[in-house]
Amino acid sequence: MELRNISNTKKDPFNQFSLWYNIIRKENRDNYNGLALSTAGVDGRVSSRMVLLKKYDKKGFVFFTNYGSRKGLHLSQNPYASMLFYWPEHGRQVRIEGRTEKVSKKESDEYFNTRIQGHKLNALASDQSTEIPDRQYLLDRYNEMASMYHDTPPTRPDHWGGYRLVPDLFEFWEEGENRLHDRLEYRLLNGRWVIRRLAP
Ligand SMILES: Cc1cc2nc3c(=O)[nH]c(=O)nc-3n(C[C@H](O)[C@H](O)[C@H](O)COP(=O)(O)O)c2cc1C
Repeated sequence: MELRNISNTKKDPFNQFSLWYNIIRKENRDNYNGLALSTAGVDGRVSSRMVLLKKYDKKGFVFFTNYGSRKGLHLSQNPYASMLFYWPEHGRQVRIEGRTEKVSKKESDEYFNTRIQGHKLNALASDQSTEIPDRQYLLDRYNEMASMYHDTPPTRPDHWGGYRLVPDLFEFWEEGENRLHDRLEYRLLNGRWVIRRLAP
């Protein structure tokens, strides 16, 4: 009901996001930080997949992946992307759009080093989004990495790291009766966030 009256909402969309996201975070459901990420390459075809939000602040929204994956290829051709969060228990969705950039190597290293060994090995073993002959191939690669790094943790491979989506558009959506939903859009214009209400 929060969006019913615009004066209840934060003037800064990052603060509005935090208000909603902190509720979700406290519930601590599995993959509470999941979001659908949509990208498009030069051919203009859009593709979506889930990723996990690993951090956010006023600079943007960060997820980690394999830079050689299909999404990585898309983002190298066209940096614009869209993130979608849906929290059905709260009747809320948030859309965030903007340009992506790779996070610094230091930031990727820092996050990689917090990953458990199995996840680090996976980043080495799996050439994400490439064709593999069978599942055994993946297991063999994983076991090879596991024996190679059985006493020392691997360092981050160059092909793996983070992207930060730097938003220029947010939309907060809240479910209403009789489909009279509330939608508030925040658009960045000349360095200021301009808010408008959209028809549901
Ligand atoms: C809940 C959930 C979270 C996921 N989180 C990530 C993630 O943070 N990073 C990632 O690379 N893939 C993640 N995946 C796998 C992706 O959805 C996708 O299969 C993979 O990144 C390859 O996508 P692409 O071929 O479009 O690049 C996740 C999948 C699910 C279902």
